[in-house]
Amino acid sequence: MAVPAPQEPALEDFAGDALAGLSATPKTLPSKYLYDTRGSELFEAICEQPEYYPTRTELAILKREANAMAEAVGPRAMVVEYGSGSGIKTQRLLSALADPVAYVPIEISHSALNASVAELAAQFPHIEMLPLCADFLQTVPLPEPERAAERVLIFFPGSTLGNFANEAAVELLATMRAEMGENGAALVGIDLKKDPAMIEAAYNDAAGVTADFTLNLLDRMNRELDANFDRGCFSHRARYNAIAGRIETHIVSEIAQTVLVAGRSIDFAAGEGILVEYSCKYSQSDFAAMAHRAGLVVTRSWTDPEKRFALQLVEPLPELAV
Ligand code: AVJ
Repeated sequence: MAVPAPQEPALEDFAGDALAGLSATPKTLPSKYLYDTRGSELFEAICEQPEYYPTRTELAILKREANAMAEAVGPRAMVVEYGSGSGIKTQRLLSALADPVAYVPIEISHSALNASVAELAAQFPHIEMLPLCADFLQTVPLPEPERAAERVLIFFPGSTLGNFANEAAVELLATMRAEMGENGAALVGIDLKKDPAMIEAAYNDAAGVTADFTLNLLDRMNRELDANFDRGCFSHRARYNAIAGRIETHIVSEIAQTVLVAGRSIDFAAGEGILVEYSCKYSQSDFAAMAHRAGLVVTRSWTDPEKRFALQLVEPLPELAV
């Protein structure tokens, strides 16, 4: 069996990215750096908070609509997941599908990739595991499964798409379109627009876990970039921008201060923020329009009774005959 030897792609340049973002106006830091070991643990804890509805809502949809999804996808799919397995969500999908031939998680971190595959391999001994160590923002050749696949199904749950600003999200959907081939499909989780108070509460939980998650980025810079941020002088701020339709999360400097990061001094004005994350929210038509721009059409959509979250099945837009 030809298991591709996973090769860690070019190492992320945390120092370079951080210095570039902190020297820009307004200041930014790429949200992917929120997910170090501690950050990933804190994200798991966020998913347990009563205010954070997306995870449990998506899981409930996956449970309730599993059979309908399996029917829409059809038998013998090769499931390609963007990001390492999302544990229980992946398990639900793989158990529901009819005779899936292979599971291909695409993930940049070796350790996350191996951990997710080890767990799923034990649970699904008949599904070929073909982990791919790569950046899912790039098109990569997909592995050949031992048994021929009927179609490729890309799985992108969690409203992770919402971390990308709209143009970048369309680009990512276009990358999926290229990866899935003419007969492929993608199942994409998106958080829907709703009462802004409910959205804001999800990113400002009373227990302060989200604040901890955001501010962990300062600890990470202290540890890995020899920085000297004082966590007590910064705060977490997550606000819903109704015009852009997204949560914008900032780390805000409480006072005027100068901080050292990788040997460089960075000045903060009192009240100045660092943008660390977008969490975009969509209406069904917002998403359909983005999909269309990426050459895709929404063929099915499953949501919860309160219409908080949706799983969208998208397929290649048929080319118009001329
Ligand atoms: C993992 C990107 C979907 O935006 O809701 C949760 C991350 N940040 N709380 C989201 C997150 C703060 C989450 N995503």
